[in-house]
Amino acid sequence: MTPSFIVVEGLEGAGKSSVIELIRSFLVTKGHAVECTREPGGTPMAEAIRECVKQSWDEVVTQETELLLMYAARSQLVENKIKPAMSANKWVIGDRHDMSSVAYQGGGRGIDLSVLGALRTMTLGDFEPDLTLYLDVEPSVGLARARGRGELDRIELSGLTFFENARKTYKELVTASNKAIEIDAMQTMDKVHSDVTIVLHDWYASYLLTNKPSSDNDSRKA
Ligand code: TMP
Repeated sequence: MTPSFIVVEGLEGAGKSSVIELIRSFLVTKGHAVECTREPGGTPMAEAIRECVKQSWDEVVTQETELLLMYAARSQLVENKIKPAMSANKWVIGDRHDMSSVAYQGGGRGIDLSVLGALRTMTLGDFEPDLTLYLDVEPSVGLARARGRGELDRIELSGLTFFENARKTYKELVTASNKAIEIDAMQTMDKVHSDVTIVLHDWYASYLLTNKPSSDNDSRKA
């Protein structure tokens, strides 16, 4: 069976980490080898870019710099880790991917989406997740959760309007996509996990139907 790339998206404090662990366990019980990645980050160079983009500087960090660093990190990750893992028959779970750039740099910072489209084409071509789970949380609630984990970083200090615009963009992207599903992350963690489990079972069942091993297809043809 062709391995899949599954991405978990959401604002800070949405609960991505525990959902990623849930998906990882589910895939392992199905007998798949699994690799987990995060963005920005996931390779030595991309992790250095992550540090660079999240920290505060004594100079203005332009939104163009922020955007380009996100795509630089993504290019490193996809070429050095995600594609090789999938070629080695591993399923990949991503903590964020391209949808984050559209939500944060497009919706949040207000960068023209055609610029993002050009960068996406250059760095990713037609590579995209097979499934994206978007965990929807109100920014004030998510940021309070993030604050409880420690000091906020440069991006997290961008203000409520930035996150409200990012959330609005996330919701529009999910509505427009047939490969993305929204989960209400304002619920209790148990309820979020049970919603994710239901979605995952359904998605996996239909994925199995459309991705039969080639030997099955051959035997049906005979
Ligand atoms: P996190 O993975 O711990 O949430 O940190 C990543 C931060 O980077 C988070 O604030 C979201 C932000 N980000 C963007 O602004 N654009 C992107 O394309 C990505 C991947 C992350």
